[in-house]
Order: sequence, then structure tokens, then C-alpha cells
Amino acid sequence: MTTNLPALNINRDRLDADLKRIAEFTDPDLPYTRRAFSPYYEAAREWLAGRFRDAGLDTRVDPAGNLIGRLGGGAGPVLMLGSHTDTVESGGRFDGIVGVLGALEVVRCLRESGVTLSRPLEVVDFVCEEPSVVNLSPLGSRIMAGDVTADMVAEATTPDGGTLPDAIARLGGDPSRLDEARRKPGDIYGYLEMHIEQGPVLERAGMEVGVVTIVAAPCRAVVSLTGVADHAGATAMADRRDALAGAAELTLAVERTVSTPDIVQESVGTVGFLRVSPNMVNVIPGRVDLTVEVRSTQTEALLWAREEIERSLREIADRRGLGATLEWQHLEEPVTIPLGMQEVVAESAESLRLRTLRLPSRASHDAARLAPVAPVGMVFIPCLDGRSHCPEEWAELDDIVIGTQVLAGALLRLDAQS
Ligand code: GLV
Ligand code: MN
Ligand code: MN
Repeated sequence: MTTNLPALNINRDRLDADLKRIAEFTDPDLPYTRRAFSPYYEAAREWLAGRFRDAGLDTRVDPAGNLIGRLGGGAGPVLMLGSHTDTVESGGRFDGIVGVLGALEVVRCLRESGVTLSRPLEVVDFVCEEPSVVNLSPLGSRIMAGDVTADMVAEATTPDGGTLPDAIARLGGDPSRLDEARRKPGDIYGYLEMHIEQGPVLERAGMEVGVVTIVAAPCRAVVSLTGVADHAGATAMADRRDALAGAAELTLAVERTVSTPDIVQESVGTVGFLRVSPNMVNVIPGRVDLTVEVRSTQTEALLWAREEIERSLREIADRRGLGATLEWQHLEEPVTIPLGMQEVVAESAESLRLRTLRLPSRASHDAARLAPVAPVGMVFIPCLDGRSHCPEEWAELDDIVIGTQVLAGALLRLDAQS
């Protein structure tokens, strides 16, 4: 147990003002949408870089497009705090955002209290954490961990038809020096991320803080089903090869697979994207492209679910006379949070006498992608009705302030380790 740590006074109004300001950087027709590389994201980044500089951080954009503010010079392993500020479409105002703005508030409090850390500190706004903008997300943390390479970035495009290297360059990154964004094991002493839980466990249990024990792995596949587009009136039911009917069956197969007893506690599965062609009222769907996602904290459950979904797809396609392809994209592994990192978070929360629970993260995070090169830890705070990735996503300011205090205490504990 570490004693004699300075108490930091989190400035609630300042944090609140930052949360409200960044929420204004949204597509006005689709709040709260700030997709990575969009004009709203670029403008928010510019504002955020200014806030980093105002806080006394030596601020730069690394070659990958991560916004990094550094406190304290010197060589040696850095302490790192961060998360992301991009959102899903019609997303929320807290997912990722509380982790970045909370970290920034910690820096301001350190400086105001005259606390000097023994190691350099970096606050990072990781670029493009959310999936579906490019197929390489979470982009910034994966580049930092060396998991996304310069070649992969060079070939990628953005939804506006541009190239990913151009989009990164627009943010101030330099894709020609991408390797310089990479960190080796030992470069980062410890990484801490505060995040809303995005699920109902803390709220239902009446807990104020969560200490994350393991982060579930999302595995995502792109599936195409091809049938025959034909007249919706003149084609008898027996003669049809309807790609959407096949996709509907596959969707139910995914649901059934992850709801299988023994798997159900650990896994979830979603068909969250469908593109139907030609998508017209009087034409039998000739092609459907869709995504399948399964997540679990258990590798065996993931492997089983993936095989079962592939088997279901083959069976559905054969029976319906459809063409079918399935390509797994990035196959992630569940990430166990090192016990030492759980301890610094738990000690910080317990020293503040907070109601604290250890729990798995069902959502994924930059912390998980950074884990191959750094000890990572996560602080969870409750969110209303456990909802996230929707405009209704809400976290109480009191809980965000508490999470920021826990983050600060965990940081000081890490720094005090010899
Ligand atoms: C991150 O937003 C995730 O999809 O878990
Ligand atoms: Mn998210
Ligand atoms: Mn997030």
C-alpha cells in the first residue's frame, strides 16, 4: 500500500465545460457523430490540442495521427493516460471522451498542486478507435503496438473515397514515418484508461467504480450472400434464391450460437450492418453484404462460435442455393489486465472509500490493443441504464469526477513504484 500521496482537487466545472464543448463538435443532423477523419473530428482535434497546450503539455501529433501531450522531459519509460474522441454514428458524449478529458484534468491538477512525477507522462487521444471508418481500427493504438503496419495503412481507404495516409496527414500525422509511432515493450511504464462501462453491471450493483479484470475480444467477419435478383411478383417461392432471406437466417444463427448454454455467460454476437442489393420493394434481393461480430472473454468460446457460424452459413447457402463468402477480419484475443495494474486502480478507489467492483469489460478499448507492449489498467464508471453507442448515452458528472480522482490516484501509485 502506497502512503503519503498528494490529494488532487479535480475541478468539476472545468471538466464539465470541456465535456460540453467537445460535444458541440458533431454532425448537427446526427448528434453525437464525430467520425474519425471527418471535418467535425478535425475541428475537435484542433480544439483539444489547444486545451493540451493550455494545460502546459508539450503537444504533438505522432506519425500515426495520435494526439500526444507530454509532461516532463527526460528519457526512460513514460506513464501514459488516454482514450479516444471519435464516435460511432449517432454515438454518445462519453465513450472514450471521459478518458481523454479526465486525463487532461489530471494533468492540470498535478501542475496546480505542484506535484512533479518521477517519470514523464503522456496523455494520448488515440486516433480512430471506433470500427468501420477503416478496417484497421482501433487504428492509433494498434499502430503504436506495431500491430498495424505502414503497408497496411498505405493500402487503406476512407469512406469519402480518399486514402488513409492522406487522412492521417490532414490530422498532422506523417504516414511516411509511421514506424516512429511504434512503442516497444519497456517504452511505456504503464497505461491507464478511464472509460464508461457501456453496460449495466456497475449501475445495477450500486457501485461507483469498476476495476477491469479482462477485456473481451471482438472478432468480426465480412459476409456476402449472392442469390438471384428477380421479379418479386412473377417469381414463384420455389424458384427464388433470395439473398436477404439467407442473411436473415444467418442473423438468427448468430444469435442462437452465442445463446447456447455454457457459451451464453461469456459471449455475445451481432449482425450490425447489412447492405441489400438492389434494395427495392419489388425486386428479390440478389445480394447482401453483412458483418458478423462475436465477442467473448474466453478464447475457446470464440473459436467454437466462429466455427459454428461458418457451419451455419454453409448449411444455409447450400439449402437455399446461394453463393456465400465469409472473411474474418482482425481476430482479437481476450486481454487479461495484469494483476499489478488492477491493484493500483483498486487501491486508488479503496483509498477514496468508493464502492468498487472487479468486472470484465464487454466492450473493447485502446488499452486492450496496447497490451502487447505495455502493462495496461482500466477504471470503469457507471453509465445510465448501461447504454452506449447511442445518443442517449449518459454518465453523471459526479461519476466522471470520481473516475478522474481514481485515475489520478492510480497514476500517482504507478509513479511511486520504484
Ligand atoms: C468499441 O467501441 C467497441 O466496439 O467495443
Ligand atoms: Mn465505442
Ligand atoms: Mn470507447
